[in-house]
Amino acid sequence: MAATLIIGGTGYIGKKILEASVKAGHPTFALVRESTASDPVKGKLIEIFKNLGVNVLYGDLQDHESLIKAIKQVDVVISTVSRGQIPEQAKIIAAVKEAGNVKRFLPSEFGNDVDRSQNVVEPAKSAYADKIKIRRAIEAEGIQYTYVSCNCFAGYFLPTLAQIGAPAPPREKVTIFGDGNAGGIIKF
Ligand SMILES: NC(=O)c1ccc[n+]([C@@H]2O[C@H](COP(=O)([O-])OP(=O)(O)OC[C@H]3O[C@@H](n4cnc5c(N)ncnc54)[C@H](OP(=O)(O)O)[C@@H]3O)[C@@H](O)[C@H]2O)c1
Repeated sequence: MAATLIIGGTGYIGKKILEASVKAGHPTFALVRESTASDPVKGKLIEIFKNLGVNVLYGDLQDHESLIKAIKQVDVVISTVSRGQIPEQAKIIAAVKEAGNVKRFLPSEFGNDVDRSQNVVEPAKSAYADKIKIRRAIEAEGIQYTYVSCNCFAGYFLPTLAQIGAPAPPREKVTIFGDGNAGGIIKF
């Protein structure tokens, strides 16, 4: 069993990974911002985590000392921060390197294999470029890693017709990515 820290455990993907880690029997830690604990919805989620046996550690990606303290307690670090925070993972890489005890780091990926994706259009293109930079930074530091490439989740993109950030399917207007001719494959 590997003591596992999830950074981003209150997020869309993070909460699933956190639950899976607990169910697999790994001692599971979650780095959570104190401000999140007072959020009515996410506060309840944190209570659920605690009842599952998750060790909730209060800290912040921006707070180096809290990162080091959390990382020193585990063997595996999994980041599930959002696509907007991908470059910020340089702070996790620095902390993993400094702590020196981590056996494996899984950066926030959970999408297409960014090294093998071609003809990508915005807004994915910039996010993929950020993920590639983080991959190269991990490799340059000699950190053991796993990149989880699980392609797109239809359940995430279809409800809003892939309109990033939209709360509901658009009724008046949709943004077409690229020139509109890119194909897509959906497997059920
Ligand atoms: N394959 C697909 O179809 C698909 C779909 C969605 C996402 N993804 C990928 O999955 C990954 C995760 O995305 P997501 O949508 O699950 O992200 P998300 O829901 O936005 O969750 C981001 C997590 O990061 C935490 N966080 C934010 N700022 C932080 C800080 N300063 N310190 C510590 N934690 C902080 C958030 O905590 P708070 O709760 O405190 O805000 C939250 O738990 C990304 O790489 C994304 O590209 C893939």
